[in-house]
Amino acid sequence: MFVAGQKEMQQLDQYTIEKIGLPGIVLMENAGERVVEEIMASAPCHNPVVLVLAGGGNNGGDGFVIARRLFDLDVQVHLCLISTPNRLKGDAKVHYDVYINRGLPISFYQDNSNIFMSHLQQADILIDAIFGTGINRLIREPYDQVIHMVNEYAGKKLIISVDIPSGLNSDNGKVQGVAVKADKTITFVFPKTGFFLNDGPMHVGEWKAVDISVPKSIVHDLGIKMPNLITENLVKASIPLRPHHGHKGTFGHVLVVGGSRSFVGAPVFTAKAVLHSGAGLATLAIPENIYSIAANISPEALFLPLSETDGHFDARAILEISPRLGQFTSIAIGPGMSRFPGGEAWIESFIQHLNGQPIVVDADALYLFRNQLEIIREYQGDVLFSPHPGEMANLLHTSIKEVEENRLEVATFFAKKYEVYLLLKGHRPIIATPAGNLYINPFGHDALGKGGSGDVLTGVIASFLSQGASPTEALVSASYLHAKAGEDKARMLSHYGVMPMDIIEGIRDQLVSM
Ligand code: APR
Repeated sequence: MFVAGQKEMQQLDQYTIEKIGLPGIVLMENAGERVVEEIMASAPCHNPVVLVLAGGGNNGGDGFVIARRLFDLDVQVHLCLISTPNRLKGDAKVHYDVYINRGLPISFYQDNSNIFMSHLQQADILIDAIFGTGINRLIREPYDQVIHMVNEYAGKKLIISVDIPSGLNSDNGKVQGVAVKADKTITFVFPKTGFFLNDGPMHVGEWKAVDISVPKSIVHDLGIKMPNLITENLVKASIPLRPHHGHKGTFGHVLVVGGSRSFVGAPVFTAKAVLHSGAGLATLAIPENIYSIAANISPEALFLPLSETDGHFDARAILEISPRLGQFTSIAIGPGMSRFPGGEAWIESFIQHLNGQPIVVDADALYLFRNQLEIIREYQGDVLFSPHPGEMANLLHTSIKEVEENRLEVATFFAKKYEVYLLLKGHRPIIATPAGNLYINPFGHDALGKGGSGDVLTGVIASFLSQGASPTEALVSASYLHAKAGEDKARMLSHYGVMPMDIIEGIRDQLVSM
């Protein structure tokens, strides 16, 4: 499934209307009908009282259809126009006229806000059809008052937004002054990009994309490039297949490079995740001072204890590991490695000894590469970066705020510029490829916000690579399974108590149904 912004939705609507010949009023009728179906399916009580709030654009036009169709189903419905009738035009005006010609119940907010407030109080369900994707400036009077009043009922009445919560920017998810906090958003054709960015997730509630007869195939016909939404089906198609006659050699051998005196657990979680998600073998290359502890807690892994100074790798370690590097199918580097003195030269030398295997760069390795990203571009194999927003900011020498506010743009820029496959972690992870393809992961849970969680993810990515997945397939699958495992384990173990090993177990549970 794709994720669409305002421009893309306009292109799709326009093509359907002008080239295919389905009139806009038909699309609006379909949209209203679909929303009514969803309202009826989610009504909180028998015979609910519904208030439809309509604005002056086409989103308001959907509102006229919704109110009329609810009336025809004998629902007690009232429509309040927040704009003025003489501003209405096009398809919205047609449906307004139909509504008026039918003599259906309507009031005008501008004339009497007291009537509006009494309808607001009486309603069980509030339908927000004030603004859709067409919002192009800050919300001012009277719309801001209305949206504030609606939000006072958040959690008390069922609030359903039509296409997108009014006030939310469909491209970047930023609130334009104020935005409706919906319980549900019934969106048309594709979910909107803003659902997954910035303030979006806090406003859309549960969302559902419904068909209104705009053919999705137009996206390909017109060659429109849109971000992909990660779904279970996409993941099922991306996870590496396991031939029945396969053996440990078939499923690859992952090298995990990391660890230091203060961070023993990180590379261990990575190696455990590698094996729990299907790789044939995992070798842990760690400083020799932590070898015995690590070996004690992960008997299933192989070990390559390397020379160390002050608890971290030193130059001798490169000489020890380099003759062995050819035997690995994929590499994960960084977990717990520490930002040690001389680390930049160490990592540069390490990568020069590889023979083009895919490499997942995470945690401290991201820091060590930050001033020598050209090396990455020149590497002869695929490179995958999995920074959290702090690490991304560090790589770009910018602030976390800048990264968080522009997640899609930042990910796209970095992946293209340095020719890496990028997984930008955080709330609603984003995957960007060197070719400019984007994937948004709509799943995840705050339970995943704990040390060790990212190390697990790195292991799953490296594991899928070693089993033959492409970089995009590995990132899409690993990110989804990690997020779903977090959701599942949070339900069972609370938001607070999910530990890295629980996430690994959760990922294994998820794999059962794949
Ligand atoms: N304050 C007041 N008016 C605004 C603001 C604002 N902050 N922003 C935009 N407008 C006006 C625009 O000038 C335009 O007249 O609101 C109207 C846009 O309303 P929308 O319904 O959001 O946009 P429109 O492009 O008409 O319709 C898109 O139609 O297909 C349906 O619901 C679907 O979201 C979709 C909508």
